Amino acid sequence: MEMPDIQKYDRILIGCPVWCGLAPNVILTLLDILNLNGKHAAVFTTSGATKPMKLAVKLKKTYPEIKWHKPLNANDMSEDEIRNWM
Ligand SMILES: Cc1cc2nc3c(=O)[nH]c(=O)nc-3n(C[C@H](O)[C@H](O)[C@H](O)COP(=O)(O)O)c2cc1C
Repeated sequence: MEMPDIQKYDRILIGCPVWCGLAPNVILTLLDILNLNGKHAAVFTTSGATKPMKLAVKLKKTYPEIKWHKPLNANDMSEDEIRNWM
């Protein structure tokens, strides 16, 4: 599968559902393939109940060279709330 060239981007937003308290494996595979070291990144999630920080803490431990920012749970967010977060 062809990967996008993300080297020209400084800020990456990653959106995914929470599965079993974690990001789905496909997101980890993507992060393994794309080298985001040194880039600013943040994750936004949809979930049943799990807070996005739980997932974000694990991503930060696994990928410490990425500059992680505050995560967002996008469930029921208004456009304004999402824009403020961005
Ligand atoms: C296999 C699986 C595991 C899930 N695990 C969690 C979980 O640990 N915490 C949670 O809050 N929601 C969990 N969910 C709910 C999903 O996060 C929720 O379905 C999704 O964010 C909403 O997107 P969807 O409409 O595409 O399903 C899980 C869903 C699936 C299918």
